[in-house]
Amino acid sequence: MSAPPVSGLTSTLHKVVELASLAPSVHNTQPWWWRVRQNVLELHADPDRQLLVADPEGRNMVISCGAALHQAEVAATSLGLRTEIERLPEGDPPGPLARITVHPAPQGTPDEDRLRVIEERRTDRRRFTSWPVPPTRLAALGRLATPYGVRAIPLDDVSDRYRVELLVSRAHALQARDPRVRAELESWVDGKRLGQPDGVHLDVLPPSQSSGDLPSRFPDGTLEDVDRDLGGSDALLVIATMGDDARSWLATGEAMAAVWLGAAADGLSVVPLSQPLEVPETRLALQHDVLETVAVPQLLLRIGWQPISRSTLPRSPRRPLEEVLRP
Ligand SMILES: Cc1cc2nc3c(=O)[nH]c(=O)nc-3n(C[C@H](O)[C@H](O)[C@H](O)COP(=O)(O)O)c2cc1C
Repeated sequence: MSAPPVSGLTSTLHKVVELASLAPSVHNTQPWWWRVRQNVLELHADPDRQLLVADPEGRNMVISCGAALHQAEVAATSLGLRTEIERLPEGDPPGPLARITVHPAPQGTPDEDRLRVIEERRTDRRRFTSWPVPPTRLAALGRLATPYGVRAIPLDDVSDRYRVELLVSRAHALQARDPRVRAELESWVDGKRLGQPDGVHLDVLPPSQSSGDLPSRFPDGTLEDVDRDLGGSDALLVIATMGDDARSWLATGEAMAAVWLGAAADGLSVVPLSQPLEVPETRLALQHDVLETVAVPQLLLRIGWQPISRSTLPRSPRRPLEEVLRP
């Protein structure tokens, strides 16, 4: 028996899921699946794709799903739909993380510019130029997190910045000497993942990625990075919430994606740094020494300018629609 024809709304919702799946996710695990029922899209976490060693609580998994949720919302509204979102409608997982009900919007017309930003956004780990990100611009990006009840705090104080750089290095060193973390990372990096529609492939990793004092968790790759500018200037934002539960992590992901799409629309590059949040010792130090305990840190973002002349980065692969849709 042949499959029933896909209605106009269903095919638009499939397009929304495809665009949502272009969201960033930890190690490109894409730890989500979706259900489409009439005019409702349901987003679920996929615990089979959780990094059980580096992310035992599922923080990065749910943050990644929050990013997909934000991109689904932007995609749906950019395609001319109106959305209503219920977050954790049945409480903590295993229930859905979100339910998005869509309605045709009066005079809804596609917003091609926003759709293009979703399609063109990448994690570009090549060295930034020495052009600083103006503080007003950074503060404006940080404000994009506010509607989600999340703070995105620019780290412009030199001593805070120095402390954070030390914590990134400390977390990196602790993870690098843990064989279980190393094995898990390697299982998501090229080689093991070659030909798979997920994971981090060597063609998106520059040959040497350390930026200033910030080490990279990934091995050296094959991406050309010719015009490296030794004076690279990175801005840092710390994303923080009042709570530390699935709802806070989902909001973190939504806020991160809002900041990232806003930055990408401005031509700015964003690279998340989650290692210091994955190691309990450095996460606590970040909370107490840098945020003075008033908020819970969830993610660091490194932000800067790529040279205009730089080549387009290949897109990290994504799982096809059939794999992320479930009945
Ligand atoms: C929660 C989260 C944590 C991440 N942590 C890191 C990180 O520590 N280092 C890094 O280089 N990239 C990190 N990334 C970026 C992912 O590796 C990237 O989004 C993924 O490989 C897909 O590539 P794309 O963003 O170019 O589509 C993180 C992304 C998310 C959502």
